[in-house]
Amino acid sequence: MSKNKSAFFCQSCGHETPKWLGKCPGCSSWNSFVEEIKQKKGSIAPFSKSATDAKPIVLQDIKEQGKQKRVLQDTELNRVLGGGVVLGSLILVGGDPGIGKSTLMLQLAIKENFKVLYVSGEESENQIKMRAERIGISNENCHILTETNLESILTHASQLQPEILVIDSIQTLHSSQVESAAGSVSQVRESAACLLRYAKESHVPTFLIGHITKDGSIAGPKVLEHMVDTVLQFEGDRNYVYRLLRTIKNRFGSTNEIGIYEMSGTGLRIVENPSEILVTNTDSELSGISISSTLEGLRPFLIEIQALVSSAAYGTPQRSSTGFDAKRLNMLLAVLEKRCGFKLGAKDVFLNIAGGIKVDDPGVDLAVTMAVLSSNANLPIPPGIAFSAEVGLSGEIRPVNRIDQRIAEVEKLGYNKIIISENIKGFDPSNYKIDIVQCTKIDQVVKAVFS
Ligand code: TYD
Ligand code: MG
Repeated sequence: MSKNKSAFFCQSCGHETPKWLGKCPGCSSWNSFVEEIKQKKGSIAPFSKSATDAKPIVLQDIKEQGKQKRVLQDTELNRVLGGGVVLGSLILVGGDPGIGKSTLMLQLAIKENFKVLYVSGEESENQIKMRAERIGISNENCHILTETNLESILTHASQLQPEILVIDSIQTLHSSQVESAAGSVSQVRESAACLLRYAKESHVPTFLIGHITKDGSIAGPKVLEHMVDTVLQFEGDRNYVYRLLRTIKNRFGSTNEIGIYEMSGTGLRIVENPSEILVTNTDSELSGISISSTLEGLRPFLIEIQALVSSAAYGTPQRSSTGFDAKRLNMLLAVLEKRCGFKLGAKDVFLNIAGGIKVDDPGVDLAVTMAVLSSNANLPIPPGIAFSAEVGLSGEIRPVNRIDQRIAEVEKLGYNKIIISENIKGFDPSNYKIDIVQCTKIDQVVKAVFS
C-alpha cells in the first residue's frame, strides 16, 4: 500500500519543508508550520487545459472581447472595483467575522440582474433563504448551492454558466485532490488555483469570501492574495452601523477608493453622503467639538472630533484616544505645551472620533488641536467652522493634499468658514464662496476662531 507523503507548510506564507521548523525561512514567522498531506500522486486538477492549448500571440493581434466590465447596481462596489466587475477576474473579500461579508455578497446575488451562482459552505439553504427574504429578493436568476466540494462546485458552475460566481468562503472548500483538512494552506491554495483557472477560462467574475486571522490578515497563505486580481477588505466597528469597503489590491483600478455602507435591519444600505451622518448637528454649542474635512482614499468627508480635557485625578495624567493615533495625540499635546504655552501637562485628555471611524489622515491634526483647546478653555467653537491642516512639530500649520476637494465638501454641507494653511501651490481662494482663513501658527487659528 502506498503511503501518502506529507510535508510541513507555513500557515502564513505557504513555505514548504520536509521537516518541522520553529521559524519560517520564507516569512520569518515563528511556530507557523503545520504538517499536511501532500497532493495525491498522479491526480490531475480539473479545468486544466493541456499544455498545447495556449500559443504565444502578438499583442496587436489580441482581439478585445466586447464589453469587459459588468456594471453593477451597487455603486459602492462599482467604485471600489474600478467602475464595475471585470470579466474573468477573481476577487477576494476579506473581513472580521460578523462584519457582513456574507450579507454583502448575498445582496449582490439577489439584487443584481445577472445570473448568479451563490455557493455557501457555511450556511444551509434555509438560512440563506431567510436572510435573502429579509434583504428583499429582486433577482429571479439567483441560484444557491450549499456545497464544499470543489470539483462538484466547478461541475455545477460549468453546467449552469452563471454570469457571476460567489464562494462563501474559500476556507470551507475542499478538493479531493488534496488530502489535508479544509481551511489548511494546501487546500486553500489548491481551491483558489482551480477557481482562478475557472474564472479565466470561463470569463465569469468570481468573488471569494476569505476569513481573517486574529492579527487581521486574510487566513491562508499570502499566495492567495498574490493569485487573485483584487483584494477588498470589509471593515468597521461592530458596535457601529458603518462599514467601509476598501481596495487593498486591484489589477484593474485604483486602490484609493472606498465604499461606505450602513448595516440596517434589511441588509446593507449604500451611504451616498457620509458627512451628513458622521456629523451630529446639535443646536446647542458644546465645548470640545470640532469638525474636520478629511479624505479616505480619494473621497472627502467631514468628521466630528470630540475632546475632553479635565484635571488629572491621579498623579499621572491619562491620555486616551479612539479612532485617532494615540502617539500623534501625544505629539500634538506636546506641541501645544511647548510651542504655544498651553498647560496640559497635568490634565487628562480623552479624544474620540464620532461614528467609530478610524482616521490616519494628518489633515485632521488642526481639528484635534482645536477640540482639545476648546475643551480646555470650556469655550465652544462657533458653529459653521471646519478645519483641514496638519500641525508640525514647531506649532506651524502645514498644507495637506487635495485641499480643493476638502473645501468643496465643507462648502457643500453649508459651512461658512474653513481654516487651512498658507503656501498651498496652485490654490486660489477666490474659487469658493465660503470664507477661507489661511493661518501659519496655532495662535492665529485661536484668534480667528474665538475672537
Ligand atoms: P454576516 O454577513 O453573516 O457576516 P460575515 O459573513 O462577515 O461573518 O453578517 C452578519 C451580521 O450582520 C449579523 O451579526 C447580523 C447583521 N445583519 C443585520 O444587521 N441586518 C441584516 O439585514 C443582515 C442580513 C445581517
Ligand atoms: Mg459569513
